[in-house]
Amino acid sequence: MCVIVQKQTEMSPFFLCDKYFSFQVYLILVITLFTVLRNVHVEAIKYIAHEDMEKNLVPSNTNTSQNLCTFSFSTESDIQGYVNPHYNYPIFPEDPQTFAKKLNVKPGGEWEPSDCKARYSVALIIPYRDRLTQLSFFIRYIHIFLYYQQIQYRIYVIEQTQHYFFNRGLILNAGYLEAKKDKNYSCFIFHDVDIIPSHRNNYYACSQAPRHMSVLRTSTYYRLPYPTYFDGAVSFLPEHFEKINGFSNKFYGSGGEDEDLYNRVVHHGLEPIRFPNSASTYSSLAHVDSIINKDKDAILQAGKNFYHLGLNSTKYDRHYLSNNNEPLFTRIMIRPLEGIPEVVGISDCEKNQKK
Ligand SMILES: *[C@@H]1O[C@H](CO)[C@@H](O)[C@H](O)[C@H]1NC(C)=O
Ligand SMILES: *[C@@H]1O[C@H](CO)[C@@H](O)[C@H](O)[C@H]1NC(C)=O
Ligand SMILES: *[C@@H]1O[C@H](CO)[C@@H](O)[C@H](O)[C@H]1NC(C)=O
Repeated sequence: MCVIVQKQTEMSPFFLCDKYFSFQVYLILVITLFTVLRNVHVEAIKYIAHEDMEKNLVPSNTNTSQNLCTFSFSTESDIQGYVNPHYNYPIFPEDPQTFAKKLNVKPGGEWEPSDCKARYSVALIIPYRDRLTQLSFFIRYIHIFLYYQQIQYRIYVIEQTQHYFFNRGLILNAGYLEAKKDKNYSCFIFHDVDIIPSHRNNYYACSQAPRHMSVLRTSTYYRLPYPTYFDGAVSFLPEHFEKINGFSNKFYGSGGEDEDLYNRVVHHGLEPIRFPNSASTYSSLAHVDSIINKDKDAILQAGKNFYHLGLNSTKYDRHYLSNNNEPLFTRIMIRPLEGIPEVVGISDCEKNQKK
């Protein structure tokens, strides 16, 4: 049976036919549901407005009788604020000692402004293995970048021994625990070595909520891989990092621990945030093949039962007992002692061949 109600419109007369009705309604429902769910996800990580960035930061020093350092955020569209690392590359020819002297970096990669008191105190924790070219470029670049922000900071490069597959979560937890022994930093930034911030407004201090810093990257053509993406560079107040019990130690191989971290943040009632895209852009440094964790999805699902494990169950050996300070960073070698997997990952390359 077919009822044609609106002959005069462009609408297909089939629209209200029994046979097609259910199909079309179904289609519309699916599309609506998809759009709604998509939007729910899109809003999962809230963006802070450009004008609210500064007041969202949590200072560690608020003593106004001191000569506190200042920083002025530039306008959102300030093209001058962008740095092109590829142009800047040739300005880094010096050896680490000469470079450190020029910028007044103290051994172990510690720096603070000399003519004012820093408002923010930050430990920058870099997970690392086998990426020397990226590391030496990253370290120099980030020292120059942070110099303009007038914060007090120290760079920790946390390297994993060769014994096992890379466990980014575990060595970041270890980095947190090691940095805490040095100083009560008011902010911890967990930062991959293969991305560098490209806008001066990307301030390296903590916000009131965990912040996903590396929103847009050149390697993904300035597109978010998915809305709750929480990888690359994230900042945490120590109380928040401890509240979520840090990263999971269960992910050996590449991937998974970042998604699990996001789940932990949300599970503990925290609402992660981002700075506007204009401030949150990064350049990617050339990538090498990494080992994909083939159990990722299973561990990620099961991870929801493992929030009680993490920072407080991180077991490791400090491989170097001496204080292994480089001129531009603190280098700590870690040997994981927890959750060594029986199964190991497969490489990206093998994975692509299987497709
Ligand atoms: C603030 O700084 C001044 C000058 O350095 C110092 O004398 C004072 O004790 C500080 N106040 C607090 C509350 O730390
Ligand atoms: C950090 O603060 C805690 C508690 O206030 C204190 O026990 C500890 O010694 C401090 N650590 C450092 C390295 O200053
Ligand atoms: C670690 O912290 C969780 C809560 O986040 C707690 O349930 C668990 O008992 C703690 N484990 C240890 C070994 O302290």
